[in-house]
This record gives sequence, structure tokens and C-alpha cells, in this order.
Amino acid sequence: MNALWLLMLLGVAAPPAATDIPVSCMYSDILGSWRFFISKAPLGRDSNCSAGPGSETNQEVIRLQKLNIAMDEHGKEGTFTLVYNQGFEVDLAGYKWFAFFPFSESNGTVISYCDKATPGWVHDVLDQQWGCFYGQRIDPPANKTPLVFTHHSSKRVPRQLFKNNPNIVNAINRIQTKWKARQYPEYHDKPLEMLEKRAGGSLSRLLTPPQSAPVTLDVKRLASSLPKTWDWRDVNGMNFVSPIRDQGGCGSCYAFASMAMLESRLRIITNNTQQPILSPQQVVSCSHYSQGCDGGFPYLIAGKYGQDFGMLEEAYCPYKGEDAPCQFQPHARYFTSDYQYVGGFYGACNEALMRLDLINNGPVVVGFQVYDDFMYYSSGVYHHTGLDDVFNPFEQTNHAVLIVGYGHDATSGLDFWTVKNSWGEEWGEDGYFRIRRGNDECAIESIAVTATPIPQLWWKGRGSGTW
Ligand SMILES: *[C@@H]1O[C@H](CO)[C@@H](O)[C@H](O)[C@H]1NC(C)=O
Ligand SMILES: *[C@@H]1O[C@H](CO)[C@@H](O)[C@H](O)[C@H]1NC(C)=O
Ligand SMILES: *[C@@H]1O[C@H](CO)[C@@H](O)[C@H](O)[C@H]1NC(C)=O
Repeated sequence: MNALWLLMLLGVAAPPAATDIPVSCMYSDILGSWRFFISKAPLGRDSNCSAGPGSETNQEVIRLQKLNIAMDEHGKEGTFTLVYNQGFEVDLAGYKWFAFFPFSESNGTVISYCDKATPGWVHDVLDQQWGCFYGQRIDPPANKTPLVFTHHSSKRVPRQLFKNNPNIVNAINRIQTKWKARQYPEYHDKPLEMLEKRAGGSLSRLLTPPQSAPVTLDVKRLASSLPKTWDWRDVNGMNFVSPIRDQGGCGSCYAFASMAMLESRLRIITNNTQQPILSPQQVVSCSHYSQGCDGGFPYLIAGKYGQDFGMLEEAYCPYKGEDAPCQFQPHARYFTSDYQYVGGFYGACNEALMRLDLINNGPVVVGFQVYDDFMYYSSGVYHHTGLDDVFNPFEQTNHAVLIVGYGHDATSGLDFWTVKNSWGEEWGEDGYFRIRRGNDECAIESIAVTATPIPQLWWKGRGSGTW
């Protein structure tokens, strides 16, 4: 069996291909028993699993139950989570399974197959043995009518250029007083597609972001004892946040935000004695868990890629801002020991849990929905105004960024998050923005990710010789 196996499995004419509308599967679509078909022999960790597990397979049946329980045939219990709406990860009996859901597209209609798993990776939790697998839900039996999404046909002509529009800036500044909009001359005449890539890219799009979860009484009590304001850039005069960077025209925000979290947490864990700058290009060029300059997700990068492959420092794989071949200077890497969605699984996040994780562990990486008006943010506490820029029709994206603090703004009367962006220091409030906190503004309180980096025992400083 070759790459055609999937088409045969799906019984569809068009190959599942990269498209500008991603898969969108929900928990209710995936609960039940799955049969996983696994490569007969262990494979290398760098295996390209896209080609499937081979013609000879072993099989394993795993049951996924509410809320996040995975169980094998012997009754052994583990956990699972959706990975955004696009895949799932199972952690059970010493093995981690991860795969995306397949989809096909023709003429503006996208079909998600939420009862199937494209070839993905399975490996033991110590990363010693790797295999490829694909999956099929067997109970309830495969859906005869898969999920179908109709592509909202693009609002704009291809290759349209962004034009500065004082009208929308004035309209935003007139309609509310909590934040200020301004024009960014450097965006003028840039392709709209490029600006959308900067804001997450088409493959990071979430059609249906989850809502933030209810706050339990325990969590409420714990969170009520936290400080009223926090800023990891100034904790008794110490700064634990690495410098602002600029991702350029590549849809690599997910890699920048992931690196920014690990960099900051390394500084916190080592009291600023280790301050590596990590390489987003390594992720863009080398990660099978993301789609290079077309987007990706922090759970799979700060978390899974960091655990499975580790991060090089910037010096060994400098940023190019394009889908360059996977080339780097081999060197010691930074790994992550634990990772999860804040709350334990996709959909379990809320504002109180985010503050607890922020204070206890360091900055947390989040995604939020970007609307037209955000592109003009200059200062203040952002909230979506509902105003659309008809001259620069921006396709909604999900942008990955890093929350470094929170507080209450006396001027606007709003609670806010302080957020590190990757659009250079000239953007927003010196590269940062603030956004309304406590009401899941633009879904920013629904999909935070936390991960624990492992510092180097043999740290010698950035770009120093060999260990
Ligand atoms: C992985 O395999 C697929 C299907 O066989 C192929 O299209 C793709 O180019 C391969 N990717 C890499 C990085 O080798
Ligand atoms: C594709 O969709 C458009 C718009 O819905 C329709 O007019 C056209 O006939 C479709 N083409 C095919 C080949 O189905
Ligand atoms: C952390 O570093 C600061 C500044 O160098 C120092 O004053 C402080 O004592 C250190 N804290 C600990 C716990 O080592």
C-alpha cells in the first residue's frame, strides 16, 4: 500500500491536500472506540509518516470517553485531548499517539473526516521507539455522512494589496475610547495575504474555537489569592521576558510564540542565568507537526515538538522567514518535560486557570481570533469593535502570542492581559498589546498552552563552543 491507501480508505476522488480551510472536528465527533493500524516494526523518529504505516500492520483498539479518558482493551486508563479542531493526542500505557483528521476539498467545499486519523506518529513516552499509524473509529461505526463545510468564498480579489485607510482608523477611534487605532505606513501596499500570514496564516484558522470552561469553586478560591497585577518583565525589578522579535511575512507566529514561552520560562527557572534565544526557523523548516510558513499550533510546537525533538538556539539555525530546507548546525537542544492545554485538555481553559499558570510557571502561549480592527491597534486595552475594513477585507485568522502579565487599567476601567506579539518593537505598545480580560475576548481565554522547558546543566552562554 502506498500513499493511495488513504484515498482508498476514504473512498474519495480528490487527494486530501493543503487548502485554506482547515479541518474542524469536535469532541462529540470523535468519542467512541477506535482501531489504530500500526507499522509492524518500529521506525525511526524522523520517519515521514505521511506515507502510512506500510501494508502489514498491528492493531490496537482504544476507547475515547468524556471528558478526556482514553482506555485500552485491557482496561488500562490514560488521557486524550483534541488538538485544536484538527487532530488528537492520546497518552496511554506509556505511549503517545498523535494524528490529524483527514479532509478533502473540491470547489469550495471542505469535507472533514472526524472518524478517521491520517497517518500519524506513535512513540513511547521516553521517545525510544517510534511507529506510524492511521486510525478509524469503529464504534459508533463510521459516519456515512461526513462533516461538510462550505468555503465562504473569499471577500477579495487575489493578490490584493493593503491600502492605508484613515476612515477605518477614525471610525475605530470614534466608536470607543478603550484603545487607539493608527495607520501603519509600513503595511501600505503589502499583500493582504502576507498580513494574514503574520496574523496566523490560513492553516491556523479555527472555524469554531472552544469557549472558555466554567471556573470551579476551588480554582476560584486559589485565583482570588493571586496578586491583583503581574508583569514578568518587572518582578521586583527583574525582567524574565526575552526581547521582541519580528516574524516578517512568514506565518510562523506559532513558532515565535512557542519559543518566547520557553525562553521566558528558562529565564524564570534559572533566575536569569540562562537566556537562550531559540530558533523558530528550525520549527518552520523541520517540524512535521506544523506547516512551515502556512501556520501551526503552539500545543504541537512548544509542547510536543519540544518534547520529541527539542529546540536549537537561534545561532545554530538563524531565522530566514521562509520555507527553507531543514538545515542546521547540530548542537545541544532544549527539551520540554511536560506540556498540556491549561486546564488539562482542549476546551478546559479559563481565565482563572491561566492566571494561576502564569504566576506559578511563567508566561503562557495563547491563540486568539484576529479581526480587521486589530490590524490598526496602537495602544490601550483592545477589544473587538465589530468594525470591518471593507477596503482591506481581512480573512479571520487565529494568531499565536504570549501572555506575560495582567492588570486593571484605571483609564478604561477594564481588566487586561499584557501580551507579547512578534511583529517587531515598532508595533503596538513597544511590540506588546493589552486586551480585555475576563470575557474570553476573541477566544483568548479558551486555548492557552503550558509547557515546562528543561534548562541545560552545562550552559555556557549563547553560541558558545561545544559541550
Ligand atoms: C512524506 O511523504 C509524502 C507522501 O509519500 C510526500 O508527499 C512528502 O513529500 C514527504 N515529505 C518529506 C518531508 O519527505
Ligand atoms: C463550483 O461552485 C460554483 C459556485 O458554487 C458553481 O457555480 C460551479 O458550477 C461549481 N463547479 C463545479 C464543477 O461543481
Ligand atoms: C536571582 O538573581 C538576582 C539578581 O542577580 C539576585 O539578587 C537574587 O538573589 C537571585 N535569587 C536567587 C533565589 O538566587
